[in-house]
Amino acid sequence: MTTPTITLNNGVQIPQLGFGTYKLPPESTRDAVLWAFEVGYRHVDTAQMYRNEAAVGRAVRESGLARDELFVTSKLNNAYHPHYEAHAAFDRTLDDLDTDYVDLFLIHWPLPALGRFVEAWGALEEILASGRARAIGVSNFQPHHLDRILTEGSVVPAVNQVEIHPWFVQQEVRAYDAAHGIVTEAWSPLGRGRVLEDPAIVRLADDLGRTLAQVVLRWHVQRGDVVIPKSATPERIVENAGIFAFELDAGAMDAVTALDRGERTGSSPDEENRTDR
Ligand SMILES: NC(=O)c1ccc[n+]([C@@H]2O[C@H](COP(=O)([O-])OP(=O)(O)OC[C@H]3O[C@@H](n4cnc5c(N)ncnc54)[C@H](OP(=O)(O)O)[C@@H]3O)[C@@H](O)[C@H]2O)c1
Repeated sequence: MTTPTITLNNGVQIPQLGFGTYKLPPESTRDAVLWAFEVGYRHVDTAQMYRNEAAVGRAVRESGLARDELFVTSKLNNAYHPHYEAHAAFDRTLDDLDTDYVDLFLIHWPLPALGRFVEAWGALEEILASGRARAIGVSNFQPHHLDRILTEGSVVPAVNQVEIHPWFVQQEVRAYDAAHGIVTEAWSPLGRGRVLEDPAIVRLADDLGRTLAQVVLRWHVQRGDVVIPKSATPERIVENAGIFAFELDAGAMDAVTALDRGERTGSSPDEENRTDR
């Protein structure tokens, strides 16, 4: 399997398909990530919040692949927006992953009630300048949060990782990202499995002779987004990578986009303010 790459605004290439690791417990993360690498994934998404960075790092080391063949993303946890805390937390991420650098480091949530994401962004800019992150970005940022980064920061985020799936298609955020050279990355791309039961997805999968998840993931990649499905199931990890040898026509693309219900599976970025996890 060869995954297409997208060029970020600083020239770094990101594989368009990555492997998500949220809710993978540390004891099974190593095996799942190793299997994903074996079947051809070259991009893995972890976070301080997931408490599985060390297991991801083990899989990277044990994969037999050169470090520069792999793309590793992690994210700053919510408690660490203050400048000093952000640096200390990033150092722990490198220690836990047992690597000299990450390919992408994101602010996990903007936490608007705390109001310190611009300060955190300053720390990420310094980390980028130090060479220990090849690219930096944000996650769960709405346009009005990004406005502040663009006016008060010096570096334009390379990526905005947000919830996107057929029931929550995020046209406004995607349009804002595109207008500012920010690549959009889709988390919960399968709506945590829930969107697969939608009758329109079932019909399209039947017509195309593909699985439900493949139809949905193909829709994401044809929109031009990076996509990071998670699975703990070896067969599904293989299935979810089988999305580069077929296409949805314009009618099928529109039919999936039309399923939008404005329905999130996760928190709203304007309301998520927990710093205790
Ligand atoms: N930045 C953020 O705030 C944020 C938030 C959430 C997630 N993320 C990232 O995005 C990644 C993906 O999101 P997610 O894990 O929330 O949800 P997801 O990838 O949309 O869905 C995962 C769920 O779908 C099931 N599944 C996977 N492949 C399937 C298939 N082929 N057929 C049927 N069911 C399938 C999985 O079950 P099994 O595991 O049992 O196979 C799991 O229950 C995360 O792992 C994480 O890396 C980021």
